[in-house]
Amino acid sequence: MFNKYTLLVNKNNKVPDNIEDLVNLIETIDIDNEITLVEEETYNAYLSLNQFIKEKFNITIGIDGAYRSVKRQKELYNEFILKYGKSYADSIVAPAGCSEHHTGLAIDLAIYFDNEGYISTNDNFERVDKVFQEFIHPYLHKFGFILRYLDNKEDITGYPYEPWHIRYIGKDIATSIFEKGITLEEYLSNIK
Ligand code: DAL
Ligand code: ZN
Repeated sequence: MFNKYTLLVNKNNKVPDNIEDLVNLIETIDIDNEITLVEEETYNAYLSLNQFIKEKFNITIGIDGAYRSVKRQKELYNEFILKYGKSYADSIVAPAGCSEHHTGLAIDLAIYFDNEGYISTNDNFERVDKVFQEFIHPYLHKFGFILRYLDNKEDITGYPYEPWHIRYIGKDIATSIFEKGITLEEYLSNIK
């Protein structure tokens, strides 16, 4: 039951030091044409999700970000502190070692609009969120993904709603979490 796909990483649960030995990270290209790493099974599930969304709705999704090293997360966190101050940075960026992105099992999605190219939710929150809610979120579990940071669950996950951040966990657990409308934290504490 517990395996690398059920890993819990949050502010109270650091990623294992040897995570890069536990997961097989493979290279792909993000929406900025830069190399990004994703865990292998997660990447295959993402490709199936991508194809499904394209065929069913003619919507193109892309990878805005996936694996991040602890060093990169530290830089990102410090960049946010400089730009926005510590309390805002703390509210949306995980401290180094505590980000699900260290596992390669998390992907930040962007959506492609014909005239504008890829847009991440941060660029245009309401418009992009609507697309996510209607065309992406209801289908994630069929491909083994969950929406990790649900609306109104900040007290449990530690972060506000993020429509773009999906986490691979496998179809059975994803479906159970989706049908119950719960967080990964709640799911894992219920089955202990
Ligand atoms: N934005 C998410 C919480 C992270 O930094 O991992
Ligand atoms: Zn993310």
